[in-house]
Amino acid sequence: MTLEDGHLPYNRLKVTERFPARAGEAALPREQPCMEGRRRFFVRIIQSVHALMGATLAFVVGGAVVAPSFTRRQSTWLTASDVGSLEEGVPKAVTLRVARADGATEVIDRRTVYLVKDGASVRALDSTCTHLGCRTRYNADSKRIECPCHGGMYDATGKVIGGPPPSPLQTLHARIEDDRVLVEV
Ligand code: FES
Repeated sequence: MTLEDGHLPYNRLKVTERFPARAGEAALPREQPCMEGRRRFFVRIIQSVHALMGATLAFVVGGAVVAPSFTRRQSTWLTASDVGSLEEGVPKAVTLRVARADGATEVIDRRTVYLVKDGASVRALDSTCTHLGCRTRYNADSKRIECPCHGGMYDATGKVIGGPPPSPLQTLHARIEDDRVLVEV
C-alpha cells in the first residue's frame, strides 16, 4: 500500500467513511466500529470513576453526619456544690467543667446549671434558654430566671412564665451525697 496507489499509510487511516444513504438522502459520516467500541470503553471507565468518587464522598459525609447519633453519649456525675450553700427556693448558678473526648483530644465544655434547694432535695436546671439557646441568668430582685435575648422568663422551678420560650428549662438529674450536690451531665 503506497501513497502512489492513492491509499494512506496505516497510521493515517481515515476513521470515518460514508455509508451509502437511502435514495434521496445525503450520506452521513459514520465512525468505524472499532472507534465506537473504544469510545464506549473510555466512557464506561469515566462513569465508573465518577460513581466510585460519589460513593466515597457519600460514605465519608454520611458517616460524619450519622455516626454521632449512634455514638452513645457517656454521662458523668460531677460535684456541683455543697448543700449548705443553697438557700431554699433560690436558684444558685454553678458552672461545671465537663470533659469530653473529641477525636484524640479532650475538650472541656463549661455548662452552667441552677441548683435550687427544695426541702430535702435539690433540683438542677440547665441555664440554656429553650427558645434559641441563650444563656439565662437569675434576677434576685424579680426572683425570676431571665433570658436577655428575647425576654423569656422562668420561675425557680424552670417553668416558663413569660416570653417566647416554648418549654421549661431542662431538668438534670441531681442527688445529694455526704452534703454534696452531684449533677449528672
Ligand atoms: S433565646 Fe431566650 S427568649 Fe429567645
